[in-house]
Amino acid sequence: MTSKEIRIAFNEYESLDQLDQRDRELVQAAIDATKTSYAPYSGFNVGAAVRLDNGEIVRGSNQENAAYPSGICAERTAMFYASAAYPEASMTALAIAASHKGNLCTNPVSPCGACRQVMAQYQFKGKRNLEIILVGADKIWKFEKVDDLLPFIFDNI
Ligand code: THU
Repeated sequence: MTSKEIRIAFNEYESLDQLDQRDRELVQAAIDATKTSYAPYSGFNVGAAVRLDNGEIVRGSNQENAAYPSGICAERTAMFYASAAYPEASMTALAIAASHKGNLCTNPVSPCGACRQVMAQYQFKGKRNLEIILVGADKIWKFEKVDDLLPFIFDNI
């Protein structure tokens, strides 16, 4: 038997000003995208912004439905649109923010498992690390790759 360990490292920033200009721009796009959320059931407005290696920033937001499972998260809206609109481009960074009743959530928004799996797939497709930035009003977390949010990624097929 061998005991093994996985270490996850990430950076914590206390405010937007501590980010470099490119990350700040992406985070601002995610915050702006919360305003396009359609969330009449949860009232939880999520925004996501993906940076592509062709220079584009693609935004998405959560879109809910009366048939609840038919709705979709902000992250997948953004990533699916980015891949459909720019199939040749690699995704290099994804920022996620959320607001409730008009106020940016205090803690960083942590994406659901299904969105993490989709991030993993696009990181694989893009053949380079996809950085993830989780935004909160009080702190911002930056991970250098999807593996840090989803260890043991499913890639057996
Ligand atoms: N949601 C997202 O869009 N992204 C997340 O990371 C977490 C959850 C959405 C789904 C649903 O519309 C609402 O937030 C409440 O779960």
